Amino acid sequence: MYSVAVIGATGVVGQQFLVALDRHPWFKVDCLAASPRSAGKPYIEALRGPEGEVRWFCDEPIPESFIDMEVKDSSTIDPSDFDIIFTAVESDVALKIEPVYAKETAVVSTASAFRYEEDVPILVPGINDNHVKLIELQKKRRGWNGFITPIPNCTTTGLVVTLKPLLDEFGLDKVIMTSMQALSGAGRSPGVLALDIIDNIIPYIRGEEWKVEVESRKILGSLINDKIKPADFKISCTCTRVFVKDGHTEVVYASLRRKASIEEVKEVFTRFGESVFRNKDLPSAPERFIICFDDPFRPQPRLDRDLYGGMAVAVGRIREDPALENGVKYVLLSHNTRLGAAKGAILVAELLVREGVV
Ligand SMILES: NC(=O)c1ccc[n+]([C@@H]2O[C@H](COP(=O)([O-])OP(=O)(O)OC[C@H]3O[C@@H](n4cnc5c(N)ncnc54)[C@H](OP(=O)(O)O)[C@@H]3O)[C@@H](O)[C@H]2O)c1
Repeated sequence: MYSVAVIGATGVVGQQFLVALDRHPWFKVDCLAASPRSAGKPYIEALRGPEGEVRWFCDEPIPESFIDMEVKDSSTIDPSDFDIIFTAVESDVALKIEPVYAKETAVVSTASAFRYEEDVPILVPGINDNHVKLIELQKKRRGWNGFITPIPNCTTTGLVVTLKPLLDEFGLDKVIMTSMQALSGAGRSPGVLALDIIDNIIPYIRGEEWKVEVESRKILGSLINDKIKPADFKISCTCTRVFVKDGHTEVVYASLRRKASIEEVKEVFTRFGESVFRNKDLPSAPERFIICFDDPFRPQPRLDRDLYGGMAVAVGRIREDPALENGVKYVLLSHNTRLGAAKGAILVAELLVREGVV
């Protein structure tokens, strides 16, 4: 078993980590850490809010084995005690603690702090596995025994999973995406106030559009001479927050380099989704990465976010787009705290083990 630590274990993503790592076949959680506010408390006490309420957000109960485990202060742990450290903290905190950990061990991060550095890959298994090679360069350049590898922003994930087969099969010229993002995507602190979101849509999420645009081209880019050359397509995003608990919905318009029929697009999505993890032996990989619906009323967050354990991207409403050259449009849905955060990060760690990097 590989020994792992979860930093930010009390937050929305941290809690998903614990559910996903409970009885994981390869990874054993030996440490939970969070801020000094939580340090020294049993996990269940660290979850309590100002009224004494337990602030647990997953659909599943708190795994028994973590209820009484003592939460450590993230600044006092010895990173060399662990094979992998999963971090689920805001970027300002990640900026400080991740390099300290990475000097000694592997860090798989859900934060954006290091995503845009030249020697840091943003890994999505099945999409850009070959970017793992950048890790050796990162270690050498920084003189670290370990490394940092972040996962993408949760909105980027569903988008790149669907763009990859389109890019490979037909080429991409332009992508336009509008998101309708779930509340849990904003985390717990500060999160989104109920009074601001009930009966409402918030048309702006700070920094999100830039992140999705830059990350998508980086993830789908080519690794040439130890550098990632971003994929050569134009991309324009609008990101909004809606009154949905979990699951980001995205409306995507793509201009392909080569004309494709709707049947061909569906076939390419389905074939890619069914084959991408075949024989890879990654415990968290879904049997199908993309699921296509013909029913025009799908995908819907409540019905489809948990397909294949929240690790599949559901796609529907695939149509031609007459406003774009070789245009195709569709609606996608992906789970922001499972595939888009904790379980996505665990899948990355599994890939790193398989690739012999951990
Ligand atoms: N929510 C999503 O859907 C999603 C998806 C992808 C990526 N992400 C990214 O994942 C990260 C975590 O997001 P979240 O939604 O889980 O946030 P959150 O619910 O606000 O949780 C933040 C966590 O950080 C901990 N923390 C605060 N200061 C700390 C410190 N100095 N040292 C160690 N831990 C500290 C908190 O612990 P205390 O309880 O002790 O304060 C808490 O456990 C963010 O970078 C976010 O952008 C989130």
